[in-house]
Amino acid sequence: KNKTLLFSPITTKSSTSHNRIVVSPMCMYSADNGYMNDFHLVHLGQFAYKGAGSVIIEATGVEPRGRISPHDLGLWEDGQMEPLKKVVEFIKAQGSVPGIQLAHAGRKASMGSPFAGYRLIPEDEGGWSQDVVSASDIPFDEHHPKPRALTVDDMKQVTQKWVDAAVRADKSGVEIMMIHCSHGYLLHNFLSGNSNQRTDEYGGSLENRMRYPLEVIKAVRDVWPDEKPFWVRISGSDHKNIDSFSRDDDGWDIYQGVEFSKELKKIGVDVIDCSSGGNLPDIKYPAGPCWQVPFAETIKKQVGIRTSAVGIITKGVECESILQENKADFVSVAREFLRDGAFPLTAARDLGVAVKWGNQYERADRERAIPK
Ligand code: FNR
Repeated sequence: KNKTLLFSPITTKSSTSHNRIVVSPMCMYSADNGYMNDFHLVHLGQFAYKGAGSVIIEATGVEPRGRISPHDLGLWEDGQMEPLKKVVEFIKAQGSVPGIQLAHAGRKASMGSPFAGYRLIPEDEGGWSQDVVSASDIPFDEHHPKPRALTVDDMKQVTQKWVDAAVRADKSGVEIMMIHCSHGYLLHNFLSGNSNQRTDEYGGSLENRMRYPLEVIKAVRDVWPDEKPFWVRISGSDHKNIDSFSRDDDGWDIYQGVEFSKELKKIGVDVIDCSSGGNLPDIKYPAGPCWQVPFAETIKKQVGIRTSAVGIITKGVECESILQENKADFVSVAREFLRDGAFPLTAARDLGVAVKWGNQYERADRERAIPK
């Protein structure tokens, strides 16, 4: 009966996930000075004990100004490792694989969380709108701060912040490293000509625009243990046009995403997590069930690298067919996990698969409760 791909184990390097369902990183805007607290333990912990194969911790700032909001998680100082270790150990104890998404918000920093009001947070409210940085000094939109273009010296210092945060993640027991290279944050700011107007060796041609993200990712890959999985989340397109496959040669499109992924493969990246968008305001996305899967499929087929698919995937049968049709190797789910923390158990039931529940919850899987 247990014949699905979704509920078959998958091994990357020394790490085995007991199924292919991944909790996609989701900012919870609930940290204090970057520190995790009980909320994160319960929130992330539940996904692990309710059957997710891998749990990726939300975008975690490598430096304070690299947070989206003052309430993002961070890993820029050693003290932040202690609460992280607790969450990571709990996830592992449930048989799930913990990952973390390291991030730098670039030109989308110093904003309010969605529930605290989507607006620029000024200095006197704990923001850093005067110290927001990007590839160029082009703001995201009229609500966002005007960024300062990083100098090459600044960029080297920021690279070191990524490396230091990665070392802390490793020491804290994290197994999957995921680099946030999408959604209009710093590394994506460099990749896309829509946000990068530099005239030095880091702007202009695709080769130049890829240069800084590749430097950062290579530096992090070099300190991340070889045997631990390494993922990069990219945007498949800036969606300047509604069609996901339309060209945006001077901006960012899937054709450049394929070339970038080839370079990522060369530097030892194991999995490309294929999202899209986030770098341009007022975009109409062609959203619908499984709408971003074609990005994962294209990169998997054209680059020959493992991918994770994401984007309004809400049903077990959808997950299974994405895998059966060889469009991706993992399925990342975000909002459905907020609605249903036991999504893997729901998916297993829908697919008719018997899965092992956590010992404490085992009796929930019986058709009829038997009083003991
Ligand atoms: C997100 N998303 C997201 N993506 C990411 O790479 N890092 C992050 O920290 C976040 N934060 C975040 C918070 C919340 C509340 C939501 C809903 C989403 C995007 C997310 O990982 C995913 O790519 C999209 O939500 C699409 O997947 P679903 O929600 O359709 O399954």
